[in-house]
Amino acid sequence: MTNRVLVVGGTGRVGRIVVQRLHDAGVQVRVLSRGHHPGGSAGAVQYVTGDVTTGAGLAEALDGVDAAVACVDPMDQLVPAALAAGTPHLVYISIVGIEKVPFSYYQRKLADEKLIADSGVPWTVLRTTQFHDFVAAGLRMLAKSPVMPLPAGWSFQPVDAREVGAALAELALGEPAGRVPDMGGPEVLGVGELAGLYLAAVGKHRLRVSLPVPGRVGRAFRSGGHLTPDRAVGTVPFGRYLADAAADLQR
Ligand SMILES: NC(=O)c1ccc[n+]([C@@H]2O[C@H](COP(=O)([O-])OP(=O)(O)OC[C@H]3O[C@@H](n4cnc5c(N)ncnc54)[C@H](OP(=O)(O)O)[C@@H]3O)[C@@H](O)[C@H]2O)c1
Repeated sequence: MTNRVLVVGGTGRVGRIVVQRLHDAGVQVRVLSRGHHPGGSAGAVQYVTGDVTTGAGLAEALDGVDAAVACVDPMDQLVPAALAAGTPHLVYISIVGIEKVPFSYYQRKLADEKLIADSGVPWTVLRTTQFHDFVAAGLRMLAKSPVMPLPAGWSFQPVDAREVGAALAELALGEPAGRVPDMGGPEVLGVGELAGLYLAAVGKHRLRVSLPVPGRVGRAFRSGGHLTPDRAVGTVPFGRYLADAAADLQR
């Protein structure tokens, strides 16, 4: 029975959804982040300060919890802290295709996955594709210039963070399951299509220019190593996300 759950990074994009879902399920939730949080307790949610890079606050945050959902990395301090705290079920969010795309952040996440799997802590890892918010934030940055550069031949399969957060909360309430099937968004769209949808949603016009991204990372993204078309289980398309987020995107 899972009664108390720590959500590390519980104020972030996906973490705050996990917190809400667990809270709605009647679980006592503790949130750890470096400090951009209200502090104290709000309802059944307790906010504590800590840092996964230094290990500060982790022992106290893990004390008495049945599960910990890690919506942040790296894991090299959190895993030994979980072992010392009586091995709660550790749920970790990772990224689809991290073994195929030689991007340094992805290589660090792959090392985190291995650390967790070899640690002796009961664990569950869910890999997902990029969140809609993340793709929209990237497009927003590229749209700052009147000429919008787009990586030639790249596609994404964005997924809604609300669905990912719900899935992570459900996994935290269940038994440790190891690596569970990947979770991708409902459609694979080229960056040109994504940019078109984004620009229409924010009411902007930009000249779009395709630029080839050289090197192994550029090639791996062109090959679609980060996509999972067979696991297109998310139900919210990018266009619907943009419509829901329209007010925020205009800011
Ligand atoms: N974004 C995507 O498209 C995507 C896709 C697949 C998987 N993921 C994975 O999902 C996870 C969360 O992504 P996200 O986009 O939700 O991140 P995010 O919005 O940047 O949130 C990160 C959270 O972690 C906290 N945090 C950051 N550094 C910390 C540290 N050193 N110690 C403790 N807490 C820290 C932040 O709060 P403070 O700033 O207050 O510390 C915040 O609560 C990441 O592991 C990422 O690899 C993301």
